[in-house]
Amino acid sequence: AVAVGRRARSRRGWGRAVALLKELEEGCATPVSRLRQVVDAMAVEMHAGLASDGGSKLKMLLTFVDSLPIGNEKGTYYALDLEGASFRVSKVELGGSRSMILKHQVELQVIPQDLMTGSTEGLFDYLATTLEHFVGREDKGCDDSDDKIKELGFTFPFPVKQLSVSSGTLVKWTKTFAIEDTIGKDVAQCLHEALTKRGVEMRVAALVNDTVGTLALGHYEDEDTVAAVIIGTGTNACYVERVDAIIKCQGLLTNSGYMVINMEWGNFWSSHLPRTPYDFDLDDDSPNQNDQGFEKLISGMYLGEIVRRVLLRMSQQSDIFGDSAHHLSTPFILSTPLMASMHEDDSPDLALVESVLTSVLKMPKVSFKARRLVVRVCDVVTQRAARLAAAGIVGILKKIGRDGSGGVASGRTRGKPRRTVVAIEGALYVSYPAFREYLNEAVAEILGEEVAPNVVLRVTGDGPGMGAALLAASHSLQR
Ligand code: GLC
Repeated sequence: AVAVGRRARSRRGWGRAVALLKELEEGCATPVSRLRQVVDAMAVEMHAGLASDGGSKLKMLLTFVDSLPIGNEKGTYYALDLEGASFRVSKVELGGSRSMILKHQVELQVIPQDLMTGSTEGLFDYLATTLEHFVGREDKGCDDSDDKIKELGFTFPFPVKQLSVSSGTLVKWTKTFAIEDTIGKDVAQCLHEALTKRGVEMRVAALVNDTVGTLALGHYEDEDTVAAVIIGTGTNACYVERVDAIIKCQGLLTNSGYMVINMEWGNFWSSHLPRTPYDFDLDDDSPNQNDQGFEKLISGMYLGEIVRRVLLRMSQQSDIFGDSAHHLSTPFILSTPLMASMHEDDSPDLALVESVLTSVLKMPKVSFKARRLVVRVCDVVTQRAARLAAAGIVGILKKIGRDGSGGVASGRTRGKPRRTVVAIEGALYVSYPAFREYLNEAVAEILGEEVAPNVVLRVTGDGPGMGAALLAASHSLQR
């Protein structure tokens, strides 16, 4: 009788777990009709954000980048590229023609956790000290260390209200950073002061968002590049906009007639976005409630956490993961890379899934059927993220008339479709093949077979840092 009872309970357990999966699938569904609504909403919000400050949750920030590198940049430049939990310093020697990046020296450094939430001075002192040591090593034995002031491209991957191409104040922190007293400060100035304190003579020639750095490198390598997207810890996009379309800055003039706009699309919101109770809870528990809504559905900081919340509910409402205590209730314990490794486990017995569940989440041995269910949950969450990012990309193409929806302005010149390149960076796209395939597939599905072949999504490789150095170079040439 005990055995029968256990079997019955376990069957009930399965029924409940499967029902939760079904609910999740329905809640996360992204048929192409819904994606098209997201595309339209993105284009509408872009217009609204360009019309007035505060006109949309999309900030549509000016960058003052009105010319993109074209290949004739020359000289030696430095770059400081802040990322999620690390930063890179690099030195780039440009030979004056596109194929001549003579030297590209990179050093990666992890940012201690306490500096991300400590003080402005602490963070910038740390960045400046690392840069000082790097420059010292690079200069040693080098006879190009002349008196010329060194120029730096500073990639700062947070929303900044630019005052010029080389200065700007922090609007708010996103992702894992939260240092209250930096908000409203000129971050280029903060870095400059920290460098000066150390006697490092260096000028911030370009202060850029990571998407803008990616666009710069993308354009340097391929002149058809008109937008850039990052899908890593956070997510964001920037693109080239006509100055006369930036209504909120009437009278703005640039030599080229265009300016790169940092959309801060992580904060995009639309009622068409598919949202489940897990997403509501995640938002409620986050320090930035009602903010970065698109980012919370798409980026690396959150995908593993969404999956954890689903598995936790399954474990509470069924016995598919056994009865013993486990670590599923610990927030953020399931990182996105771990989630991705389970999702992409192609071993016949799902050994990787088993090892994450038992070693990280401290579950007892989990049945094969339950492991398959876990993979399915990862799949649903990742697929929704990738398809929504794809809709975002097509939204940009629609705004600039490259989505094929409206004749001449829409990606056609004299009857011929126009090639359009979007530069992409970030671990989700670059290092997570399932995510990349879902995204590529959805872009093609939304655009349709006539337009899709003209749209190229291209990984730049070190776009943020290299691009910032290129922008430092192009803005130095203009002086
Ligand atoms: C966050 C930041 C944004 C950045 C993106 C990708 O969304 O707010 O500025 O571009 O992450 O790193």
